[in-house]
Amino acid sequence: MATERRDRDPDGRSNEVRSDGDRYEAHLERSRRVWDRWSDRYKMSERDFEPIRMAAIDRLALEPGDRVLEIGCGPGVNFERVRSEVGDEGEVIAVDYSPEMVEKARERIGHYDWENVEVRCADAATVAFDEPFDAALATLSMSVMPDAERTAANVYRSLAPGSRFLAFDIGPFQTGPARLANPLVRRFLRWYANWNPDDDVVDSLSTVFDDCAVVERYAAGAGYTVLCEKEPLSTTASRRRDRTSNTSESRSDE
Ligand SMILES: C[S@@+](CC[C@H](N)C(=O)[O-])C[C@H]1O[C@@H](n2cnc3c(N)ncnc32)[C@H](O)[C@@H]1O
Repeated sequence: MATERRDRDPDGRSNEVRSDGDRYEAHLERSRRVWDRWSDRYKMSERDFEPIRMAAIDRLALEPGDRVLEIGCGPGVNFERVRSEVGDEGEVIAVDYSPEMVEKARERIGHYDWENVEVRCADAATVAFDEPFDAALATLSMSVMPDAERTAANVYRSLAPGSRFLAFDIGPFQTGPARLANPLVRRFLRWYANWNPDDDVVDSLSTVFDDCAVVERYAAGAGYTVLCEKEPLSTTASRRRDRTSNTSESRSDE
């Protein structure tokens, strides 16, 4: 059932009563404007978060041949690392809602001549794929999407059983005196990133995925890495075992 609420656009454009559907569309539209604007000035964010992104991606335990989904890829800051792990036989399919970010990501792909990396301009909550993925990731992106649970559900649908989803994100401080700064932090994140104050990324992922745990926290909990699994086969080794036996089956069929 559609509900209505009094909502304030962080640009101060409107504060009329809106339905959830209108709020969703308004958030998406503002995301496009905000991230189109930042697409030319993303270098600092790319550099500063690099060590955390790389440590987070380690946890996906990617393997050569994996087919990987990235949502909210921005200008493609994770492509080089992910591609180096999945190799030429793997595949990286990325999604971003901002046409300017997609353009930057495609320039990166063209620059390195990566044939197995592709970017689509789409909403991560609704985009559909023909084949399942072996792994998925979202760095600094779920918290700026209009509906974290709907997005998580779409990622879940897109994954093969036994696959992992990794999200690294930021939000208000969780512990200590730094929490006093949270009202300002929230305002800043909404203005700068179109951060979504209504959704809790970790709660949303826990609702959707069969297994979900915060595996790392940074800066009084303002940064966190969550690792989720769809229908866990008892360990990642099972996924590997499955793939190995499929490969040997197809070999014995030859
Ligand atoms: C902070 S940037 C993160 C970029 C990159 N993943 C990183 O780690 O730096 C957030 C990205 O999420 C994208 N985004 C926001 N809402 C989206 C949505 N509904 N679907 C797909 N991408 C979205 C934005 O366009 C933006 O490029």
